[in-house]
Amino acid sequence: MKGIVFTEFFEMVEKMFGDDMSDKLIENTDLPSGGVYTAVGTYSHAEIVQLLFKLNEYTGIEIGTLLNTFGKYLFDTFLANYPAFFDAADNAFDFLESIQQYIHVEVLKLYPDAQLPKFSTEVVDPNTLEMIYESDRKMADFAEGLMEKSLLHYNENADIIKKPLVDDHSKVLFIIKRRT
Ligand code: HEM
Repeated sequence: MKGIVFTEFFEMVEKMFGDDMSDKLIENTDLPSGGVYTAVGTYSHAEIVQLLFKLNEYTGIEIGTLLNTFGKYLFDTFLANYPAFFDAADNAFDFLESIQQYIHVEVLKLYPDAQLPKFSTEVVDPNTLEMIYESDRKMADFAEGLMEKSLLHYNENADIIKKPLVDDHSKVLFIIKRRT
């Protein structure tokens, strides 16, 4: 997992719960990196999982909610760092459809060791987009946070229905429906 994920995670924790919380997380989680991350480095995905579990223990906030909130937080970082990806799409459906074929392809050129999910998208009717998320990292709630912020960014009034397709949530169907 890329270092930017960790540096942004700690930034979010500090903003939401204060500097003490991030110190507490680093001190009490057994992290191979020692809790030192650079934006361009690559670290084990297991570290973000451990940090989320610790944060859940200290705050009582569910892991799924923490992941969703983190997705929303990272959306703003992506928007600030990569505005061209957002300018390239006219609406949220076009933007979401472009992740697999364009955005994450460009991300892989920048960071060849990035571990990205697979998205299959289908426009079912003009107001319904189906997206299937697939990843061994099981971060569908993180994806949902990013999707919710994408809808807001393009001023779309839409609902997201989430249906796990396998028990471990490594494959999840999202049905995104514009309210008409
Ligand atoms: C400009 C927009 C975006 C950029 C630059 C971007 C970039 C990235 C980067 C750098 C990672 C980390 C890879 C790693 O740590 O190895 C990542 C992971 C991920 N991205 Fe994107 N992304 C964007 C938009 C989105 C959107 C809108 C979604 C969801 C609809 C999404 C879904 C995910 C998920 C779920 C992961 C976690 C890895 C996994 O589940 O396997 N991304 N992305």
